Amino acid sequence: MACCFCRWRAVLICVCTPFISLVLLFAYATVMLCMTMNNTESTWNPTYGPEPVHFVAPGTLSIKDYAPLPKTFWELLQHGDTIWNRLQLTIDRHFNPILRPNNIKRGSENGTFYESLLQQAISEVTNLEIMRENFDQLPQQIQDFVSHMHRRNYPTLIQPDRECGAGAKDEREAPLLLLAIKSIEQNFEKRQVIRKTWGQTGWVERQRQNVKGGGEGGGNVRRVFLLAKGRNENVGVNLSESLQMESERYGDILQWDFMDTFFNLTLKDVLFWSWFSHSCNRTLFVFKGDDDVFVNTPRLMTYLRDQLKKPQANETMKDFMIGDVLVGAPNRDIKSKYFVPESFYKGLYPMYVGGGGVVYSSVLTKRLYHMSKRVHMFPIDDVYVGMCMIRLNIPLIHHPAFLTLDFPNKEEEQLCSYHTILLVHKRSPTQVVKLWADMKMTQEQCWDVPLRGEVKKKI
Ligand SMILES: *[C@@H]1O[C@H](CO)[C@@H](O)[C@H](O)[C@H]1NC(C)=O
Ligand SMILES: *[C@@H]1O[C@H](CO)[C@@H](O)[C@H](O)[C@H]1NC(C)=O
Ligand SMILES: *[C@@H]1O[C@H](CO)[C@@H](O)[C@H](O)[C@H]1NC(C)=O
Ligand SMILES: *[C@@H]1O[C@H](CO)[C@@H](O)[C@H](O)[C@H]1NC(C)=O
Ligand SMILES: *[C@@H]1O[C@H](CO)[C@@H](O)[C@H](O)[C@H]1NC(C)=O
Repeated sequence: MACCFCRWRAVLICVCTPFISLVLLFAYATVMLCMTMNNTESTWNPTYGPEPVHFVAPGTLSIKDYAPLPKTFWELLQHGDTIWNRLQLTIDRHFNPILRPNNIKRGSENGTFYESLLQQAISEVTNLEIMRENFDQLPQQIQDFVSHMHRRNYPTLIQPDRECGAGAKDEREAPLLLLAIKSIEQNFEKRQVIRKTWGQTGWVERQRQNVKGGGEGGGNVRRVFLLAKGRNENVGVNLSESLQMESERYGDILQWDFMDTFFNLTLKDVLFWSWFSHSCNRTLFVFKGDDDVFVNTPRLMTYLRDQLKKPQANETMKDFMIGDVLVGAPNRDIKSKYFVPESFYKGLYPMYVGGGGVVYSSVLTKRLYHMSKRVHMFPIDDVYVGMCMIRLNIPLIHHPAFLTLDFPNKEEEQLCSYHTILLVHKRSPTQVVKLWADMKMTQEQCWDVPLRGEVKKKI
């Protein structure tokens, strides 16, 4: 009996000891890993400087109903010869909390540090033989992009006074919303129509809640147009001069000294975030969009006010971004304006909000600005914002009232259709003027229609 027990004990020891050791080791590793990850989630405030990164390997975040994201982090070799993936890998690795925990703790480096990091990655990668071969085969436009993608410090040519855009006069309280509208020099008519319609600054009344009570609440709106330099060789007038005059008259022009091309639009995001972080310390929300959209500003005010009233508002503001959420992949049709060759970027795009019109909080704007220092420029601006968002680990909120592709079927013809949306693309200046007038006329009949995708509230 004793002998039998002895034999079993030996077996038990042989089998169990390694097993127990493994369990202990596993538990230790898990605890350490969790602690490392949690450390990065310190209470961060935008004024402290760059946020400690919460590293998210692309591919780990999957959200119901959408295709899984590309696993670029795990498939290094497969993407090793792709310019953008390769460049970003260097940076993502630098901030990987598991591989380089100390870099996360240091977190608050100055701007020079990030510039040199991006620059270093670019020179490391572009010196590789395979990259040079790739580069020569890229289309001219992408080559041009790659040669300039390290540069962000373009000087400002025209800017509003430091007061965060036009509309500061007679403000009753901190501005609720800044409208930041991408435009180009020659689109004077579009800007003028926006100023007179949905882009009016000053106090904007919220959507009337009922006829008797009138609109309670509302908020102050500021406005700024984001421009770069056009080529404008054969226009006859000196557009720089007229833009200067426009700025003196309206105070809503922000222009930088780079060429206004489609692939340079990402610069407008990054430079706008920088300007906003330095000049708009009181504004609560940002609308960023094109100059050929129609925005239902009064309704947007109502929507934003409601967000602020929610119990967890302070928490949600950190991550707040709404719009038309898209899932996509690079366009491989060489004739398309969105064409991005495989030798430049491989994999799907992260989810992103369509750049025609998107609304985000000022807290998030500052987080995006800091994160953008760690993400290489990408030629498609809204995709770039998505790339920053995924690195901030923020899930996007789709709102069906943002119609970046117009109304489905014939819904537009219904009386109250425009009261159910926050934004629609695309509308000419003439259409915008008419729509704005129509909206005012149908206000009484349509005051209680719910936004698209929302259910009617019982009163
Ligand atoms: C910013 O960081 C760089 C490199 O880390 C350092 O050389 C430089 O002195 C710093 N500048 C300031 C103003 O702190
Ligand atoms: C337009 O006017 C600006 C400032 O007055 C001047 O510097 C620029 O050379 C002019 N451009 C052209 C194309 O005449
Ligand atoms: C972006 O702007 C810079 C500066 O004006 C210019 O040199 C570059 O060619 C532009 N890039 C693209 C892709 O148009
Ligand atoms: C916001 O900026 C203005 C002007 O730049 C400054 O006077 C004010 O003190 C700032 N407010 C806060 C809360 O930082
Ligand atoms: C939200 O933040 C504001 C300003 O930072 C503060 O005054 C307010 O008390 C906070 N609200 C909650 C519910 O934490």
